[in-house]
Amino acid sequence: MRKAFIAGNWKMNTNCAGAEGLASGLAEKLKGIETVDIAVCPPSVYLQSVAKALSSSNIALGAQDVYFEGSGAYTGEISCEMLKDVCCTYVIIGHSERRHKIGETDELINKKLSAAISSGLLPIFCVGELLEQREAGETETVVAGQVKKGLAGLNADKVLAVTVAYEPVWAIGTGVNATSQQAQEVHAMIRQLLADMYDESVAQQIRIQYGGSAKPANTAELMACEDVDGLLGGGASLKVNDFAAMIKTVA
Ligand code: PGA
Repeated sequence: MRKAFIAGNWKMNTNCAGAEGLASGLAEKLKGIETVDIAVCPPSVYLQSVAKALSSSNIALGAQDVYFEGSGAYTGEISCEMLKDVCCTYVIIGHSERRHKIGETDELINKKLSAAISSGLLPIFCVGELLEQREAGETETVVAGQVKKGLAGLNADKVLAVTVAYEPVWAIGTGVNATSQQAQEVHAMIRQLLADMYDESVAQQIRIQYGGSAKPANTAELMACEDVDGLLGGGASLKVNDFAAMIKTVA
């Protein structure tokens, strides 16, 4: 069975002291939990400080983005090896804010996924439709397109490193989460697509997180869905008590 995986995306929030405090607060509250994989993804400038605060805890470290080139003249970018050097296990790739606010394309996301996996990082690969796409009945086409283009050229061995995060863009940061039925529908569609692209065994092993206004109050209902294997929280992950409550609901 798939082990639950709950990750926190801190986005462009916190400062150094706040990031360390959040990390050590979580490490203390979540001590001993082994039934859920837990990760936090702080801003890249705080990765090292957070890594220290999490050392010998059960909380893994993730980054919010990575570049696909190994090294060189790529001003402002961060490589997979650099992330590993500061103890990252996971990296979020293709978050909707990077797709829609920064302009990342499926092709760029595909290169990042491929580079991350080759380096041994475990990507959290985000997909999700805009409100107008949902209203136009295009959810399945949009999400399936993102999955296919993002995973293009990755064989079954490689894709097993990936966690997919379904994050409907209209639910992110709005307080309005997808209902468990809406989430389950898309998660089941993604899993079927993975079975078609790879095989049933691969599809059954890949974890699919839900993200978009996930919080303590909706954790149990979302996690009860057959194909929801975890959560990627934004706002709720910035509060020790809320993020810990989400994890304890599942543990
Ligand atoms: P949210 O963000 O929980 O604040 O809606 C989720 C995300 O963007 O990963």
